[in-house]
Amino acid sequence: NSLVLDTEEKPARRRLVLVPVPAQGHLSLMMQLAETLHLKGFSITVAQTKFNYFSPSDDFTDFQFVTITESLPESAFKNLKPIMFLLKLNKECQVSFKLLLQQDISCVIYNEYMYFVEAAAKEFNLPNVIFSTTNATAFVYRSVFKKLYANNILAPLKDSKGQQDELVPGFHPLRYKDLPTSIFSSLENILQLYKNTVDKRTASSVIINTASCLESSSLSWLQQQLEIPVFPIGPLHMVASDPTSLLEENRNCIEWLNKKKQNSVIFVSLGSLALLEVNEVMETASGLDSSNQHFLWVIRPGSVRGSEWIEHLPEEFSKMVSSRGYIVKWAPQKEVLAHPAVGGFWSHCGWNSTLESIGEGVPMICKPFSTDQKVNARYLECVWRIGIQVEGELDRGAVERAVKRLMVGEEGEEMRKRAICLKERLRASVRDGSSSHNSLDEFIHLMRTL
Ligand code: UDX
Repeated sequence: NSLVLDTEEKPARRRLVLVPVPAQGHLSLMMQLAETLHLKGFSITVAQTKFNYFSPSDDFTDFQFVTITESLPESAFKNLKPIMFLLKLNKECQVSFKLLLQQDISCVIYNEYMYFVEAAAKEFNLPNVIFSTTNATAFVYRSVFKKLYANNILAPLKDSKGQQDELVPGFHPLRYKDLPTSIFSSLENILQLYKNTVDKRTASSVIINTASCLESSSLSWLQQQLEIPVFPIGPLHMVASDPTSLLEENRNCIEWLNKKKQNSVIFVSLGSLALLEVNEVMETASGLDSSNQHFLWVIRPGSVRGSEWIEHLPEEFSKMVSSRGYIVKWAPQKEVLAHPAVGGFWSHCGWNSTLESIGEGVPMICKPFSTDQKVNARYLECVWRIGIQVEGELDRGAVERAVKRLMVGEEGEEMRKRAICLKERLRASVRDGSSSHNSLDEFIHLMRTL
């Protein structure tokens, strides 16, 4: 029987267990990694919790999906603030995760925010790897957070005005307000979470969804401090497909874009977690309207506080968006950014959105909400110089000015040129023989030797 002979001749595929954070950006990336590793000959088990459960499609028939049980209420993801949710989730999952580790496993790869995994892996003597789905620079700042806190350097953060605009000594170009804090969480809770995410414990290596052309000094710093291999293997969206959307993509917007001139549309999308107040939506709509530019705007269901979607917004809203705007609940973002009509991206600067925009050479307007997004926004504006940051409260004038600067001014044109250069460098890094490609090869080699 040829089937039996076939299996006998082939060495058994090594099984890797992957543990994503249950949120869109992190989950997509973990599935891109899963696909990449599967193509390289590994068997894949994905361990998920009930939150934002990704129901696998036909694309994943070869994968095994298992559920980590925990007793948090169904509403926890929606009702708890992200930092508190992650702290609780880590406490809850450890015991039941151990029960999943009974089979033949070569290695466990876990999102940096699912640090409970390490203790279970250690108990079973399993190699484990940290997967950083945010960037190397944010990892660096999470690493020094404890020291900054202990030395009272974070004190200005408690001050609502004070030194917020000043540079943090030794951390150019970050200002106090760019540090990866969250207005929704106390410094103490953030500190507790970060302490856990940056602790390598028994991890054999760290893989990061970044490329050395974007953050070489942060990568060197991490390599030195962690004293285990650090592999920049990204951007993964350039090497793997992504059929992992938790929401249905509205593809009609591509038809709409097809009718627009090159670089004439600004794409507005604030990721999978950010929330806006009604007045912020109205100010944004008014600013977009008076900028006289066409705009494609993703308003995610539940992202306007107190509303299912946009049905309860004041009447003026439809007037302001009807002539030049197109609103969707969820877009095929990567395809939108690749569309020739899109000339700018108004973004919350989540790391995936940042990489996707750089990967298409689209300059950005940066309006970060919290944590790593603030670091990314500062880098987009001051280091890569392909972004304009909108600071302070959202008002129509600021929106209009930023959109005009990016879409019609000479300054925007210069940024677009720089964005195209950076795109070329980023794309080159995933090609055969280049930095991210080599890092991925080295990492896979390490996995094969386990
Ligand atoms: C948070 C963090 O800020 C981010 O740095 C981390 O990488 C993930 O968690 P999130 O809100 O998920 O951010 O944003 P982002 O990282 O940008 O990921 C959003 C993903 O959703 C992107 O891959 C984007 O392409 C996708 N998306 C968004 C869509 O496919 N369609 C949309 O309409 C909007």
